[in-house]
Amino acid sequence: MTIAVSKEADTQELSGVEPKTCLKVGIPKEIYPGECRVAATPETAKVLQKYGFEVLIESGAGANATFPDAAYESVGCQILPDAASLWEAADIVLKVRPPQYHPQLGKPETELLKEGGTLISFLWPAQNPELIDRLAARKATALAMDAIPRISRAQKMDALSSMANIAGYRAVIEAANNFGRFFTGQITAAGKVPPAKILVIGAGVAGLAAIGTARGLGAIVRAFDTRPVVKEQVESLGAEFLELHFKEDGTGEGGYAKVMSKEFIEAEMALFAAQAKEVDIIITTALIPGKPAPKLITEEMVASMKDGSVIIDMAAEQGGNCEVTKPNEVYKYKGVTIVGLTDFPSRMAAQSSQLYGTNLCHLLKDMGGSEDYKIDYDDEVVRGALILHEGKVTWPPPKPATPPPAPAPAPKPAPGAATPAAEKSSSGLGGWIWMVLAASALIGMGVAAPPSFLSHFTVFVLACFVGWQVIWNVSPALHTPLMSVTNAISGIIIVGGMLQISGSIDSPTTILGAIAILVGTINISGGFLVTQRMLKMFRK
Ligand code: NAI
Repeated sequence: MTIAVSKEADTQELSGVEPKTCLKVGIPKEIYPGECRVAATPETAKVLQKYGFEVLIESGAGANATFPDAAYESVGCQILPDAASLWEAADIVLKVRPPQYHPQLGKPETELLKEGGTLISFLWPAQNPELIDRLAARKATALAMDAIPRISRAQKMDALSSMANIAGYRAVIEAANNFGRFFTGQITAAGKVPPAKILVIGAGVAGLAAIGTARGLGAIVRAFDTRPVVKEQVESLGAEFLELHFKEDGTGEGGYAKVMSKEFIEAEMALFAAQAKEVDIIITTALIPGKPAPKLITEEMVASMKDGSVIIDMAAEQGGNCEVTKPNEVYKYKGVTIVGLTDFPSRMAAQSSQLYGTNLCHLLKDMGGSEDYKIDYDDEVVRGALILHEGKVTWPPPKPATPPPAPAPAPKPAPGAATPAAEKSSSGLGGWIWMVLAASALIGMGVAAPPSFLSHFTVFVLACFVGWQVIWNVSPALHTPLMSVTNAISGIIIVGGMLQISGSIDSPTTILGAIAILVGTINISGGFLVTQRMLKMFRK
């Protein structure tokens, strides 16, 4: 069923006023304690305007992310003095954190949203059913940025990934800050410093960002994940992928992990117990969406770590991967610093606001911009993120239809079984006819053709055979090295052609020689052009 509702048309119909020229997007100040991010930066506000939206900003909304009101004003945004007037004026409210109780106004932010209004922010619908009910009571339309499906087309709107990427980077910076020693190994006049050893548990977006950052700082990095598919990604970042040799794949739906068997968790914990004695820093990011974080680092493992070691528990908000983590706290446990911070992206507010704002811009563009704004149930990304539509709960989205099973391959005839008679006779006969024709042609040629032709012909047949083997049997990944070989062969062809064109202009040898030079030249110059284009893609 396709339901494509134009929000603009609806609001016009409801209010019975003149058609609006553009929708108003409102950006309130975040009120969650310590939250420094903002849902639009001056740069992303400009993009929203380009898509036809009018941008309203609550005074001071960007101050903690280093964007003063003046910066928004300079790009043509309207600054509203307080939250109440902002929420009232906006058709679509863009936020970072889910709505919560507004301490200054003495009421929940959901009550500030105008009836039938739209809210786009992180909402965590599974964890916040009451919030969804309150929004439903306001007949709101709500899209959760945390529910954007992880599919290729939605990558530019995937706020979870853009925030996790920043968090992974910041986790390493916090680890370095608490570690108090070099990450990289050094040999100085004053002595030798060994490199820091870091174990990263969970190589999702945050884990991979942490691995890249730690490697960049010179540490020795090891990583473990239940999804073996990430092995190559881990290794491509210069880290070692620890393996269990346990036949169980953790790959779940939509690029996320699935819950592992008890035996697997036990085996992985034995691995971590051994690693804990060796490494200086553990960064844990293990998570299965919608589930409490698996407890992977026990109190015993923490106690076995060297004094001065650090554990960064990125899953602290979901209960933590480490038994002794205290969410939102940094403290020492038996000489090991345990970091349970849950606000890494907010600690890099300018950068994360810019990336989050860009994710929102892409989503609003995908929804048609201001002019063609609509909630399109056929759009996989919008449908995935849609939690409420005009007060009606639309979450969780229906599971994508499983593709029809591929037609079963035709059963292979059992050895010795009779093949259908017609098929057998037609293909068999065709093959025989071709073989007889080819043999007769070869015999005729052998009898009638001059010996010089026969020697050229032999070279021609061999060249065809070698060319076929060289070119068609090479896997596409090796086509660039192959191009160098074919360029060399083309060079030989050109030389051969040049030797043949010395005769009369209309003799077949001269014409063939000229064609050989032309084709060889096209192949060589084309090869160089393609190589240049490919090299450009890798140059910064
Ligand atoms: P993700 O889903 O991309 O990655 C999680 C990874 O953990 C997956 O690769 C999964 O296979 C792996 N995993 C699951 N169970 C495991 C197990 N038993 N052993 C080893 N690996 C296991 O998630 P993403 O986006 O990388 O986030 C990671 C964590 O960081 C989450 O807990 C998230 O909430 C947290 N986070 C924390 C922030 C903060 O400020 N503290 C900010 C952003 C994210």
